[in-house]
Amino acid sequence: MTDAYILGIESSCDETSAAVVRSGEQVISNVVLSQFATHKPYGGVVPELASREHLRNIVPVVRAALEQAGKSYDSVDAVAVTQGPGLAGALLVGLSFAKAVCFAVDKPLIAVNHLEGHIHAVLLEERQKGNHRLEFPVLALVVSGGHTHLFLAETRDNGWTYRNVGHTRDDAAGEAFDKVAKLLGLGYPGGPIIDRLSAFGDPKAVKFGSAQLKHRDRRDSGKAPDEMPHFDFSYSGIKTAVLRYVEVNQMHAEIEARRKQLVQIAKPAIDDYKRLCDLRTLDLVASFQRAVVHDLVAKTLTAAAEFQVATLLVTGGVAANGELRTTFEREGSQAGLTVHFPSRPLSTDNAAMIAAAAYPKYVAGDFAAMDISAEAGMVLR
Ligand code: KG4
Ligand code: ZN
Repeated sequence: MTDAYILGIESSCDETSAAVVRSGEQVISNVVLSQFATHKPYGGVVPELASREHLRNIVPVVRAALEQAGKSYDSVDAVAVTQGPGLAGALLVGLSFAKAVCFAVDKPLIAVNHLEGHIHAVLLEERQKGNHRLEFPVLALVVSGGHTHLFLAETRDNGWTYRNVGHTRDDAAGEAFDKVAKLLGLGYPGGPIIDRLSAFGDPKAVKFGSAQLKHRDRRDSGKAPDEMPHFDFSYSGIKTAVLRYVEVNQMHAEIEARRKQLVQIAKPAIDDYKRLCDLRTLDLVASFQRAVVHDLVAKTLTAAAEFQVATLLVTGGVAANGELRTTFEREGSQAGLTVHFPSRPLSTDNAAMIAAAAYPKYVAGDFAAMDISAEAGMVLR
């Protein structure tokens, strides 16, 4: 099989991205345009604004990715695009653009599930490092702003299939980071800010019980009705616990003051955040992160033991978190498991992962029809 150069396009949330990847194993270009500045004043992603920004940016971002790769629309072999899950309007921009390119230059269209993309970000980089052997069973934790999902991944006849063996019952882990940062007046997106600030607080200062990490009407890890072991997550309770801590300790005035000061600073540095947080807030932030990280690691390693997995992949925006990485590395190695992460730039949303996930579909001739639509709630199987 000769090399295939796939143009990937990603527009499911608040990043417009395009990339060229060779044969699922080498990133030739990967352009990511964040809409951070657009959504920052609102403290979260505004779907209508996201669609508008994608529309504005899709052409220059794709052009830049092709230019950096020394490719043209004509010289790539296929166009891969995120079909879902994500914001419907945002997805539509990428999908419509990809269809138009395929129609104009007669290239195959490949539809990719965003979560599959996150999983292939790790596989792409492993291959890029020269590691082509993958030991099965493979368990993947996809932990992002919209998802906290565990998948058993299998490959057959050049195609991948996935079995969901766990998911969040309410807030995703990244969503909890973002909501807690917002309620503490730290701004958006919360994950990277909490990650950096946690180093200055005591992670044992505020006790979050395991009850706060359980969903009210569910079993703990156990067997689902179909007798398939299931490992679910829940991060809405801990967010409420942080809110209660803020109320009990009457922290509202200082939070409001911090929020007002931070919006005055165009690009706050870690010292700005630190200066505007007292020790109690730093302790709260560090304790929150510790609780979420420990829950993610403990449940994932329990699932890994249950399925006797040989390889563990941890991916998605929250996989950029420093404490999550070191805890997984330490506890994974104690359990005899090697844990693979994407590099930080490939942990968060990007189009290289979409082009990489598309490669096995390209080899299998698994192309999409031109009348497919965006699927906001697309399920990975
Ligand atoms: O994968 P991603 O870019 O987009 C989605 O598919 O959702 O993930 C974004 C999420 C956000 O919730 C963001 O706060 C979180 O990932 N995140 C982090 C870190 N970097 C990004 N969470 C914790 N620590 C980080 N360093
Ligand atoms: Zn994502």
